[in-house]
Amino acid sequence: MYYNWKENTNTEELKIVCNLIKNGELVIFPTETVYGIGANALDENAVAKIFLAKGRPADNPLIVHIADRKTIEKIAKDITEVEQKLIDAFMPGPFTIILKKKDVLPSNVTGGLDTVAVRMPNNVIAKAIIQFSNCPIAAPSANISGRPSGTDIEEIRQELEGKVSAIIDGGKTDIGLESTVVKVVDETPIILRPGKITAEDIKSVVGKCIIDNTILSKVDENQKVESPGMKYKHYAPKTECLLVYCEDDLDQIFEINRIIKKYRGDVVLLGLKEHSEKIVMSKERYIELGSKEDLDSVARNFYSALRKADEFNAQIVIIEGVKKEGLGLAIMNRMLRTCGFNYIEK
Ligand code: TXA
Ligand code: MG
Repeated sequence: MYYNWKENTNTEELKIVCNLIKNGELVIFPTETVYGIGANALDENAVAKIFLAKGRPADNPLIVHIADRKTIEKIAKDITEVEQKLIDAFMPGPFTIILKKKDVLPSNVTGGLDTVAVRMPNNVIAKAIIQFSNCPIAAPSANISGRPSGTDIEEIRQELEGKVSAIIDGGKTDIGLESTVVKVVDETPIILRPGKITAEDIKSVVGKCIIDNTILSKVDENQKVESPGMKYKHYAPKTECLLVYCEDDLDQIFEINRIIKKYRGDVVLLGLKEHSEKIVMSKERYIELGSKEDLDSVARNFYSALRKADEFNAQIVIIEGVKKEGLGLAIMNRMLRTCGFNYIEK
């Protein structure tokens, strides 16, 4: 069932949707980052349905979403001072923290780990659904495993309609990239997945922050990593992708024009506004990502742009990279994985 809550949350429909959650069904709902496929996190069978709908490997744990801070102690334990400071500073928001899990959570939610990823989304629809369902909600991004995350409801419907009991339309998501995932080890926060909340933001609260070295590098499927999600193919359209980033604008334009020529124009470009006029290609196959001066726009448009690019069945999708600073680190982390590390940098 499809529900349009773009303008406001319908209370009658909210009851229906929350009953579905209580009865162990799947519901797609918006958050401020990307859409999620939610189920009652305390119900093992409901959680199993999420893995099935997405085709997600069983060892890739889910994020558990809550609506208020006091629910944290029901699902997690031994919270340290540093963890508490981060919770107070960044929740609600695009921030996920890995904590020691309590036994009430079935082991499939956490992929068998003894830790749980906890997040409090800052989105009215997400909050209402969690609150009125009266349970924590496990929710990975709304996409088939390996595909770009869902940020636009029409694209999500094409991919997942029929696999879930309800789809809530809350409009295009605001941030467009998934939350920052952080684990605190020996009082030091480690970013396992970069997002809108940056290392600088975290440092400003607790004085330190490390960026995990898997963020910009390829991880082998057999490698032991802190965040299992990093091992798998991710965020990828069907068409092969190539990421290009040159510090100098003229180099960047030159490289892109060279690649377009090499493929005789049978390309799609996800491009930056600043370079568009100097790139020689068919206007139809040029998809603007946003401005390099406004990385929020690049983040917001990225996944939708990838899905659009696929429709051309081109030989290759060229993606313009950005500087790996601030939100740019999260953008480049997703872009590198989208391209399977097929990357030109100068
Ligand atoms: O913004 C978001 O975080 C979205 C929205 C829906 O909230 N959710 C999301 O979930 O991106 P998902 O399942 O697509 O990504 C969760 C990431 C994965 O990389 C997973 O491996 C990691 O979090 N993760 C979950 N539990 C973990 C744990 N206990 N330890 C380490 N990493 C964990
Ligand atoms: Mg995901």
